[in-house]
Amino acid sequence: MRRVLVAGNWKMHKVPSEARIWLAELKRLLPPLESEVAVLPAFPMLPVAREVLSGTQVAYGAQDVSPHREGAYTGEVSARMLADLGCRYTIVGHSERRRYHHETDALVAEKAKRLLEEGITPILCVGEPLEVRERGEAVPYTLRQLFESLEGVEPPGPERLVIAYEPVWAIGTGQNATPEDAESMHRAIRQALAELYGEGFARRVRILYGGSVNPKNFADLLSMPNVDGGLVGGASLELESFLSLLRIAG
Ligand code: G3P
Repeated sequence: MRRVLVAGNWKMHKVPSEARIWLAELKRLLPPLESEVAVLPAFPMLPVAREVLSGTQVAYGAQDVSPHREGAYTGEVSARMLADLGCRYTIVGHSERRRYHHETDALVAEKAKRLLEEGITPILCVGEPLEVRERGEAVPYTLRQLFESLEGVEPPGPERLVIAYEPVWAIGTGQNATPEDAESMHRAIRQALAELYGEGFARRVRILYGGSVNPKNFADLLSMPNVDGGLVGGASLELESFLSLLRIAG
């Protein structure tokens, strides 16, 4: 019922000339897939992604967007610009933006709204830091973040929103959440989405896991009933490991 999504978040890695070669190789080596695949490079690589990936089954998108529609906002990139470049997805609320750029839930909600206005599906990230998990408060913390980051956000359908659960302590550390811990958080997130948008929506919306996903742990994570794919950082940078993840997703 929910199509698995494997999305590679390149963060601030690669340059356009490298991306061109990498994406062309991905296109050449892509196995037949039932799952959906997306790459999320930094802004300067999006025109390359459009050029190389048009007409393929690989979607692409950005890692952030401005909360403003248009105007005197030096350095910002609008949702309309991303839509014009053919982005299908865009990340909002990644913990690195929340941490290094002090993004609040209210700001994340505005960004999600701008994306939806332009027909782009937000991949909205939530997840707790280590001290919160150690205090036993991971679920209430993450759900509060979810509710507040979705305040006033009205996706027209369940296919127009993706949630990514990324526990902060698992990002880039090599220490992924256990499949059982991921599953119990995903289940709680799905229940919260049912409260917000109704049961039917919640049953069909995709919830990805992110945080040290690699070809060794991905199958076990994906075997969980509420884990609908992965938002992958490090393991999406090397073509071989990304292809392994895609083969596992099938
Ligand atoms: O958005 C994906 C990310 O934060 C996870 O990164 O390197 O732990 O897979 P990584």
